[in-house]
Amino acid sequence: MTAESPSHSEKNPYGSSAGQSGPERIAPGRIRTHHMAQFKEAGQRFTMLTAYDASIAGVFEEAGVELLLVGDSAANVMMKSGTTLPITVDEMLVFARSVVNGVSRPLVVADLPFGSYEASPQQALGTAVRFMKEAGVQAVKIEGGSERAETIRTLVGAGIPVMGHVGFTPQAEHALGGYRVQGRGDAGQKVIDDAVSVEEAGAFAVVMEMVPAAVAAEADEKLSIPTIGIGAGNVTTGQVLVWQDMLGLNAGRVPRFVKQYTDLRSVIADAVGQYRAEVESGEFPAEEHSF
Ligand code: KIV
Repeated sequence: MTAESPSHSEKNPYGSSAGQSGPERIAPGRIRTHHMAQFKEAGQRFTMLTAYDASIAGVFEEAGVELLLVGDSAANVMMKSGTTLPITVDEMLVFARSVVNGVSRPLVVADLPFGSYEASPQQALGTAVRFMKEAGVQAVKIEGGSERAETIRTLVGAGIPVMGHVGFTPQAEHALGGYRVQGRGDAGQKVIDDAVSVEEAGAFAVVMEMVPAAVAAEADEKLSIPTIGIGAGNVTTGQVLVWQDMLGLNAGRVPRFVKQYTDLRSVIADAVGQYRAEVESGEFPAEEHSF
């Protein structure tokens, strides 16, 4: 990133309400990868959320979410692992198949988990084919920048749409020294170059995680594919969050970039508490629930 670069607010095509509401908004019946470029071209923001099962995926479809990510964050939020590293391809496939079965409109993307694609483009191809065939996802996501270009080319060449993921890449958390913002200062240029490499290799979108907003803005301006931010400011074409974080289902601390839109944990705990109380008092099941 150069010192004389315009600020991201000057460059941000999403800064106004243009293209964000009203009849001109592009609203395909089923979201396909080519719509991503159209959204970018139109300056139309879109939403991606993680999902790991059919029920919640259906709710997110009803709410109009365009992309569902079967993230390897399933390791954290569904299995309570400290990192995303332990989850296996077979475990991810179960989550992915469930999400695919639960929706018809959103584009479903699955993460290739740690250890399932790094050895060679052929290893990545074998894993990605399993996700396409056995789970029925429409695209896969792989972490990494220029070092993944050959792999992305191989998958795209085989007809598998690929989403990139640059900046903070959770599978590399031990190499990166923990959960840390990437691309501060001079390191910003490397993040931008990585995003460019991913686009040049044929990815249809790229996640930018935990990078300064100015870096994300410059990358978004350079690319013709959409950037999807998580902890990257409001300058990217799309946004993604882990659903348990944004709906308040997780106990404990959430990252700074998360906004909690509700407190689902209390909502569920209250409802379940009421159920328990009614079971204990004999109020439930009532006559209308009995045969
Ligand atoms: O696994 C995941 O949920 C992700 C998002 C954080 C982008 O990769």
